[in-house]
Amino acid sequence: MFSNPLLDGLQFAKEPAPFVITIFGATGDLTRKKLVPALFSLFLKGNISQFQVVGFARRPWTKESFQAEAASMLAVGHYAHVPEAQKKAFLEKLDFVSSTFDDPDGYARLAKVVNAWDNKVYYMSTPPDDYENIVRNLGASGLNKSPSGYSRVIVEKPFGRDLATARELNDILSSQLEESQIYRIDHYIGKETVQNILVLRFANGIFEPLWNNRYIDNIQITVSEAIGVGTRGNYYEKSGTLRDMVQNHIFQIMTLLLMEPPNDLSPDTIRTEKVKVLRSLRPITHKDVNKYTVRGQYSAGISQGKTAKGYLQEDGVSPTSKTETFVALKLFLDTWRWEGVPVFIRVGKSMARRMSEVAVTFKQPPLQIFKNQASDGGNNQLVIHIQPDEGVSFSINAKIPGYLTQVRPVNMDFAYGNTFGEATPEAYERLILDCLVGDSTLYTRRDEIEASWTFITRILQGWADDPSPLPQYKAGSAGPEEAKELTSSVGVKWRKL
Ligand code: BG6
Repeated sequence: MFSNPLLDGLQFAKEPAPFVITIFGATGDLTRKKLVPALFSLFLKGNISQFQVVGFARRPWTKESFQAEAASMLAVGHYAHVPEAQKKAFLEKLDFVSSTFDDPDGYARLAKVVNAWDNKVYYMSTPPDDYENIVRNLGASGLNKSPSGYSRVIVEKPFGRDLATARELNDILSSQLEESQIYRIDHYIGKETVQNILVLRFANGIFEPLWNNRYIDNIQITVSEAIGVGTRGNYYEKSGTLRDMVQNHIFQIMTLLLMEPPNDLSPDTIRTEKVKVLRSLRPITHKDVNKYTVRGQYSAGISQGKTAKGYLQEDGVSPTSKTETFVALKLFLDTWRWEGVPVFIRVGKSMARRMSEVAVTFKQPPLQIFKNQASDGGNNQLVIHIQPDEGVSFSINAKIPGYLTQVRPVNMDFAYGNTFGEATPEAYERLILDCLVGDSTLYTRRDEIEASWTFITRILQGWADDPSPLPQYKAGSAGPEEAKELTSSVGVKWRKL
């Protein structure tokens, strides 16, 4: 499969026992874009062989029409040229149950199919309003248990819309399932570059001694998307960027970056350390909400050479909407390690380009002996490129060749593509496989999700009571001007987008 000598002899995955996976909401976008392709990819690579996929949704699809739809999902893009015989072997494993989510008869029909298997996974890929019905019906039909194997439930985001609703959902889930059966998914932590944060920090001796407030000046996490909300206006109106991206994805990146060294890689050790980070975030109170947060909304502009709509003109968006499409935050952690180090977060839609990265900026040397030269370089920066151009670069100061002692920053680069070829699997492949082998390390634990909502809910309440108008930024720009104030107040500049 791989011809890269760096990868020879490595084991690529644990082999899961035979299983059946039921996708609730199988007629939706996630199934088309992510779940079916991920399962097909695992099948093609030989990571899964004995399994069945059951779609469960309201639409009157049949086994045959689900198979035909799945064939169309695999007819484009990455899998377009895979031989038909391989696709057919996969598609034959697909079945479908058409039912509403509250109809016991639907679950009885589902039971007939899935009870042929010892190991069962249920993937909740429906709007969150349906989660309660699904979980209660799994319980009522006995599908929440599997005496001769396992029964596990993967729960998609959004997981609640504030602390109260997240708790409520946790209570509903735990009324029918043990915590060990619940897999709350966040696809960001399934990205190779995000997992590499742990490896970079803890498999190398050189970073950890410097990973604290004595040597680090500030941290910036940027997740910028070039696209606007597109067809998802309805969803976005109920969400906004803080809920859609920060509470989950950004906090996954941030906790891996700031956590204390774990003693081992067991799911609970890692997750306990992540929770500690969330609990040590300094709360942003009502009166400080405008000091530490900036919201924005995109207006019409030029994005990637084309005219782009403003948020208020998008389908499904109220013309008076105050939903944010951009968020910038200045955070502090009240810990010995991080006291005084600002952590800046910047996330937005319809921005200048698609780019996700973490930039760790180190302090200057204690005595700056080159400072009177024509050029004296800058702070060292470690940049983890999450996407695109996945990799890591480290900027150091070097002497410019010549008779004068002039200094300028240069980069040491590691690019995934050049080093490992095309081996990077899709986030959903890794995460589904982990669930199949019972490894919940990369899934969010109950206390973790509630700790992140505790912090985020305070900001939401502060914003709800803030009458000031929402700052605007032009589509295709780097976000609202107001965000500059967050960093410049402590002498830092946002990195160029
Ligand atoms: C999703 C959000 O969870 O993540 C989207 O709902 C966002 O709004 C997407 O576009 C970004 O994911 P990725 O993997 O494309 O960076």
